[in-house]
Amino acid sequence: MRVDIVSIFPEYFAPLDLSLVGRARANGTLRLVVHDLRTWTHDVHRTVDDTPYGGGPGMVMRPEPWGAALDALAPPEAPPPRLLVPSPAGVPFTQALAHELAAEPRLLFACGRYEGIDQRVLDHAATRMPVTEVSLGDYVLFGGEVAVLVILEAMTRLLPGVLGNAGSLDDESHAHGLLEAPMYTKPATWRDLEVPAVLRSGDHGRIARWRRDEALARTGRRRPDMLAAIDPGSLDKRDVTA
Ligand code: ADE
Repeated sequence: MRVDIVSIFPEYFAPLDLSLVGRARANGTLRLVVHDLRTWTHDVHRTVDDTPYGGGPGMVMRPEPWGAALDALAPPEAPPPRLLVPSPAGVPFTQALAHELAAEPRLLFACGRYEGIDQRVLDHAATRMPVTEVSLGDYVLFGGEVAVLVILEAMTRLLPGVLGNAGSLDDESHAHGLLEAPMYTKPATWRDLEVPAVLRSGDHGRIARWRRDEALARTGRRRPDMLAAIDPGSLDKRDVTA
């Protein structure tokens, strides 16, 4: 997969050389290039922002550098990438969207700062490529950079060959609309706290049932919204959801 990122803070993306994302880059699974938006400015101050029309606090990113950046990275004659714009006003980022992105051949991330990017940039881009404004959650960050780190990490681990044990994708939180059951490792007793006996029983049927019950109970306590949204057809008759 090919990913381009445009930002006024390219240094934010140094962690993408580390850990499993770094390995995916090193072995070519993920071809990632970070671009400095100011490359596409032409004044001595390399200006990227200005005051908002209509008034109000803060600054808005001017359209010219963004237009030039998108023309360069998504030229009209080439197959278009999917453009992702992190914004607190976007659609929620979910595991389902991470799967969708992992299946795309090319992504282009545009990191806004300040009060965001002039809307015409997104409206114009939408005439040439799919555009998705995406939000990490109901809070406001300084800019899109941290959101891109999160989105890329969630997506990269879904790329074929990135995780050693693909089974781990099947059991994890959000894989089936439930939170994952608690996990334990050795030693069996630590500070007088015991690992639940069922997990040491070797009885795989009982273990699977226990994990499913814990996942349902935890999801009901912490995320009743997820439990309410679960497809009734995915429940088995021993599931307790009340
Ligand atoms: N930029 C600022 N706040 C954001 C958020 N919550 N999600 C994604 N991008 C953002």
